[in-house]
Amino acid sequence: MIEVEGLRKTFGDLVAVDDVSFRAEPGAIFGLLGPNGAGKSTTIGCLSGLLDPTAGSVRVLGHDVVGDALAARESLGVVPQELAIYEDLSAAENLRFWGGAFHLRGAELNRRVEEVLERVGLEDRAKEPAKQFSGGMKRRLNFACGVLHKPKVLLLDEPTVGVDPQSRVRLLDLVREEAASGTCVLYTTHYMEEAETLCDRLAIVDHGRLIAEGTLAELRGMLGERDLLRLAGAFDPDKVGAALAGVEAIRGDHEVVQSDAELLTVSVPQASRHLPAIFAALDATGAEVRETTLTQPSLETLFIKLTGKELRE
Ligand SMILES: Nc1ncnc2c1ncn2[C@@H]1O[C@H](COP(=O)(O)OP(=O)(O)O)[C@@H](O)[C@H]1O
Ligand SMILES: [Mg+2]
Repeated sequence: MIEVEGLRKTFGDLVAVDDVSFRAEPGAIFGLLGPNGAGKSTTIGCLSGLLDPTAGSVRVLGHDVVGDALAARESLGVVPQELAIYEDLSAAENLRFWGGAFHLRGAELNRRVEEVLERVGLEDRAKEPAKQFSGGMKRRLNFACGVLHKPKVLLLDEPTVGVDPQSRVRLLDLVREEAASGTCVLYTTHYMEEAETLCDRLAIVDHGRLIAEGTLAELRGMLGERDLLRLAGAFDPDKVGAALAGVEAIRGDHEVVQSDAELLTVSVPQASRHLPAIFAALDATGAEVRETTLTQPSLETLFIKLTGKELRE
């Protein structure tokens, strides 16, 4: 398993990871969900031993990644965000290279290479140089390199970015297979849907901080049964709060998540029922509503509630 406690990583003045703690269990997929720049890759770097933590501790299967680096690294498989494959080498040669780095030799190495090529669906392309591969094929090869030595702990850093839908489905199935076989999987992504369909537990990260953590059901529960109402148009931020507080039906049971001159976001139960009253109250402040979006509780709405912004870039 993975145990991260009070992890902090700075680059000069920039705090890339700020007091992050979590624990990921064997046989399960733990997700780190957050936008670009949230600190996901930096966290993975500290786990894989590529980066030295500024503070805090990271243990992999009980081995401290700094103090007991060799033992920690032996149990790890890493599929990095930046492809770690040699373009001029064939798929099989790439795998043989990584296998060698993990002390696999001879018949055992050959068997593993064949096995994993078949798993990722590249058995027919084994002898072709990686540079002739599509983005999705390269990602599948990158994944294969990370799992060849059957690591007990697997770190996957945005493994599906830039791949075709078919490769994506295949990759997600492969990740599920890993967890089903008992591997402890840490999966980073900025895709909400992936986090929702794949992860047993997940943490939402933003600006280096872990802002929420739990199962999908627990995270949804943080929203209560409220819908999220997003209005775009022209508003007077000084007046909307009082105007909404004056709406009888939602008095004491709504929350203004975000309010500025162009955007108003309110979390409210059964929002569709109260739309006419809400519009009337806003209208009385001189507001103009040009666009209305109503969403039910989801990771997306939780993210907006916690950060005031949308996850999509
Ligand atoms: N080697 C580095 N030197 C300086 N700043 C870095 C370095 N690596 C990452 N950062 C910064 O740290 C923050 C977190 O980056 P990163 O961990 O790559 O985020 P994510 O993977 O979630 O997109 C960003 O602001 C990024 O610019
Ligand atoms: Mg990253």
